[in-house]
Amino acid sequence: MSIKRLWRSTPASAPLRGTLEVPGDKSMTHRALMISSIADGRSVVTNANLGEDCHATADILGLLGTKITVDPDNHEVEVEGKGLDGLTEPDEILDARNSGTTMRTILGLCAGVEGLSVVTGDASLVKRPMLRVVAPLRQMGALIDGRHYGDRAPLTIRGGDLKGVDLELQVASAQVKTAVLLAGLRASGSTSLVEPGSSRDHTERMLAAAGAKLRFGQGRVELEPGDGPSAMTWEVPGDISSAAFLLAAAALVDGSDLTITNLGLNPTRAGFLEVMSRMGAAIEVTVIGERFGEPFGDVRVRGSELVGTTIEGREIPTLIDELPLVAVLASCAEGATVIRNAEELRVKESDRIDVMSRGLNELGVDCQPEPDGMRIHGPSELHGAEVDSHGDHRAAMSFAVAGLRAEGPVVVKGWSSVATSFPEFLDLLGRAQGRYA
Ligand code: S3P
Repeated sequence: MSIKRLWRSTPASAPLRGTLEVPGDKSMTHRALMISSIADGRSVVTNANLGEDCHATADILGLLGTKITVDPDNHEVEVEGKGLDGLTEPDEILDARNSGTTMRTILGLCAGVEGLSVVTGDASLVKRPMLRVVAPLRQMGALIDGRHYGDRAPLTIRGGDLKGVDLELQVASAQVKTAVLLAGLRASGSTSLVEPGSSRDHTERMLAAAGAKLRFGQGRVELEPGDGPSAMTWEVPGDISSAAFLLAAAALVDGSDLTITNLGLNPTRAGFLEVMSRMGAAIEVTVIGERFGEPFGDVRVRGSELVGTTIEGREIPTLIDELPLVAVLASCAEGATVIRNAEELRVKESDRIDVMSRGLNELGVDCQPEPDGMRIHGPSELHGAEVDSHGDHRAAMSFAVAGLRAEGPVVVKGWSSVATSFPEFLDLLGRAQGRYA
């Protein structure tokens, strides 16, 4: 195994101090690229997330006929939008690689493209459920087939005439909601949907900012088809899901005092901050303003003594991607932490309930997997061990954060997956720990 696939913690971690920015939000970057591709004219995405997942989206939009220019040095992407009816049948297979968001949301765009699109992904993505997005798009008139009767990629989709629908989603999923709304823009008649909880609402806010006719709130969205979205400059705030790893590290390492600025603070994404605060972390959140309907601001965290908590129900979608990291915080917190109603964790980039509880057990943590979550009893004395992230970026970075509290080195297998969302993680961690001063 090459060394790049491993990460090894150094014991006796230094505190994290100072002020940092993290790269742009991944969910918003995907959306900015997609909305721009169906806008009329030139849009610019600044502070774009340029991890592999967003690259997959950009490459696919290119194959659908959009001209996209990525400037990696300035984290900027220029998109020549083709207009609402302008995307064209791709002559190559669309490869979403490891990105579930890319695959599910692109299907919504492909549903409106005359002709055939074929969508696939890597070994992890072709195992993930797709019927949740395939079924509503079929209802709207797209002809979709694939493995497991359309529940697994590779998928073929023949798009064209679509009609609006009224949907009741079975899972609170922003990916499904986004696919339906993107298809709804091209449909005849209005589209409405309700979801069982409030998943992240970036698509609604961003479409509204670009001039689409929609109303949303409390798990309900109504969209009227109309003119396409307007070309925009999307100034993307920092990714709260990436920042979470550094904020958690700061809470766990004594003597830390870290501020992250220009961070996206959309309440449908910010559940992790609320949970950290409930666990006793010294955390200060300052909302500074709003861009395209998305609040942003600064978050300061200091090293803190933590206590256990319960996370369940409607709170789950607001921190779904941060739950592996909550399990790490819980390992060092006094008392019991219970995560329930989070069965979605089983169908992410890995089975995160299984991967996190196994890994934490290896490190000496009392973490019990449950069908829909985890039960963790802390605090534990973490020790060094080799843990397997199963190629899941968020599990890998969560174990790295656990490594900051372990006696002895923690070796994380499958480390290269970190490039999908946050290739800058180790660099920023090192800077906060004063290693490059
Ligand atoms: C995302 C939505 C969430 C999240 C994923 C990104 C998005 O998935 O877990 O990392 O950008 O729409 P679900 O929509 O499946 O909950």
